[in-house]
Amino acid sequence: MLELQGKHIVLGLSGGIAAYKAAELCRSMVKEGATVQVVMTEAAEHFMTKVTMQALSGRQVFGSQWDDTPASGKNGENIANNMPHINLSRGADAIVIAPCSADFMAKLLHGRADELLSLLCLARQTDKVPLILAPAMNREMWANPATQRNVAQLKADGITVLDVGEGDQACGEVGDGRMLEADEILADLVAFFTPKSLLGQKVIITAGPTYEAIDPVRGITNLSSGKMGFAIARAAFEAGADVTLIAGPVSLATPRGVKRVDVKSAKNMLVAGVKYADYATIFIASAAVADWRPANLADQKLKKDGTGKVPELSFVENPDILATIAQSERGKKGLSGMPDGLFCVGFAAESQDLLANAQAKRIRKGVPLLVGNIGPATFGQDDNALLLVDAKATKELPPNGGKASKRDLAQQLVADIAARLGVQA
Ligand code: C5P
Repeated sequence: MLELQGKHIVLGLSGGIAAYKAAELCRSMVKEGATVQVVMTEAAEHFMTKVTMQALSGRQVFGSQWDDTPASGKNGENIANNMPHINLSRGADAIVIAPCSADFMAKLLHGRADELLSLLCLARQTDKVPLILAPAMNREMWANPATQRNVAQLKADGITVLDVGEGDQACGEVGDGRMLEADEILADLVAFFTPKSLLGQKVIITAGPTYEAIDPVRGITNLSSGKMGFAIARAAFEAGADVTLIAGPVSLATPRGVKRVDVKSAKNMLVAGVKYADYATIFIASAAVADWRPANLADQKLKKDGTGKVPELSFVENPDILATIAQSERGKKGLSGMPDGLFCVGFAAESQDLLANAQAKRIRKGVPLLVGNIGPATFGQDDNALLLVDAKATKELPPNGGKASKRDLAQQLVADIAARLGVQA
């Protein structure tokens, strides 16, 4: 499933050096299934050509309210009434201004409409067509009280103002105010369109493998990639939750908006899990935690001594993070469906007898929901199949059998958990 399938976006460019990022944004929105109608201010044309944006969007780019080319909205019918400021936004799922300059924000704030882009923003149906701004400017312009006042008022008017990036600016200064990268704006847009089924929920998720050190340079780990847990974190954030991801050693990028706590060993993961569980409403344990760790951590690297003698390793069992948290007072309340409880979800990676093993594990851990999957078939893969097991029933994801991407499965799992908690959007 493409992320913006069926969406019609009006992409407005105001003047700013970040206009070059709008080309990439347009391309990625189209790749994700959106139709994109580009509108550029005269200032934007100093930074980016209409030709580029037309080629990338596959639609004529509009720049002037006096342009008498028939303009159309979502459904593509041409209306020759010479009113692009009305027609272009009709049926749009959103107007996105990227880059949005300080001057353009000031214009929007005052409802000024002296060129096509601000005119069509003013003429949009505010109850149907959300307006989303990606600000882009020098750090002093961003920090200026006038700009900050405008941002606050635009938000109060129901306009979505995305964050700005921080770092090197084209002017040579360093600070806040750069426009987000195209992939970040795309992620924010996808989140914007996601129903907020977990609004108000605080979710913690463990993901990835753990690493149990033998000596300062060696350790024991497993093949868990963390992809499922990271996908769940992303889906939960998009659904409106406050998400903390406790990640074992993996090199995956942190999903936008998700707070990440990096840990190595099971003991580290337990400390972080217990700490954040205090404030959470949902705990999802997707990490492949090592069952055992070496009993003794050698101070120095274990060396060969030339005699052929091998070191003898002995192991102790790791704490069970999920069971510890699920069997806490709030975990038990969650199990019995009490509103102030912590709803715990476990995973089981099995190699056979999925249902029987998952059900037994659910009871042993003391969790209301256990998600089973076949371990060797999922580790490191992008696709998977899940079996949800609760006290009464089982449910397959994807619903009709087969496999689905971990992204799709994460969205389905989040929707399922939201429905169980009765907070469906
Ligand atoms: O017992 P087993 O490892 O099969 O249980 C899997 C489930 O328990 C997963 O949800 C996993 O994240 C969690 N777990 C844990 N701490 C452990 C072992 C497993 O949280 N030490």
